[in-house]
Amino acid sequence: MKILSLINEKGGVGKTTLATHIAAGLAIRGYRVVLADADPQGHATVSMGLKKEPCFYDLLVRDAAFKDVLRRVPAEVFSPENEAPKGELYVLPSNLETRSIPNQISDPFAAADRFRELEDVIDYVIFDTSPTPSLLHGSIYLATDAILYPTKSETLSFDGLIESLTHRVEAQTQRKRWGMDNITILGIVPTMYRSATLVHQENYAKLKTAYGELVWPPIAMRTVWAEASSVGMLVYRYAPESEGALECWSLVNRVIQGLGV
Ligand SMILES: Nc1ncnc2c1ncn2[C@@H]1O[C@H](COP(=O)(O)OP(=O)(O)OP(=O)(O)O)[C@@H](O)[C@H]1O
Ligand SMILES: [Mg+2]
Repeated sequence: MKILSLINEKGGVGKTTLATHIAAGLAIRGYRVVLADADPQGHATVSMGLKKEPCFYDLLVRDAAFKDVLRRVPAEVFSPENEAPKGELYVLPSNLETRSIPNQISDPFAAADRFRELEDVIDYVIFDTSPTPSLLHGSIYLATDAILYPTKSETLSFDGLIESLTHRVEAQTQRKRWGMDNITILGIVPTMYRSATLVHQENYAKLKTAYGELVWPPIAMRTVWAEASSVGMLVYRYAPESEGALECWSLVNRVIQGLGV
């Protein structure tokens, strides 16, 4: 089992969009996947057509069993009409109560310990995180194997990216103390990219100069994302042949290549 977290401390950069589509893509391909919604906004939960519920809170604070807090995502939400998913997709839903988890738990390893219970039954756990840094992020840094950073090609998103990279280094120091491995930076994904916009080209070039091969091919700004979301579907279902869906598949392939299972 591999745990991947989508992190950027700037809001609205595509964390939830990528977390939901990576999780769904892996499930369509045949993997057993849990999408853990660690954001009190519950947007990953809602994107999968599910109700916001305090499941993350119940898992960590009330010690609920996974079987009581995981919700299976119906194939009609995420899988192409003519293709049943070969794997399984579950969501650990979130709601506003997720915000108070850090006040209720004292063990920073709570998330790491609970998610390791899934080792033999799940292939990938994908964490969608909140843009606001919190102690829950601290627990996720202790649970995760790797991080993928979505960012817009804009100054404030880069600022969020740099803050997030700094927090990873701090978390690394803590992990080292416990004899744990470093967290892999799987990649940095430019999102909502406009190839004809000069400032996007320039900022993309800056990203490449700073982070080289860690920078993945950009995901273009397209209306298909808003269209799919407004009818409660992922793009694989709404427009399986669209450029947006194809870009997502290459992202999923890179995740599989980068993490393996
Ligand atoms: N490639 C894209 N083209 C056009 N719109 C996009 C694209 N990717 C994401 N969006 C839209 O941008 C908005 C923000 O995306 P998303 O919710 O994934 O960001 P986020 O980082 O999770 O935000 P938050 O920090 O609030 O959790 C959404 O309305 C989403 O549909
Ligand atoms: Mg989000």
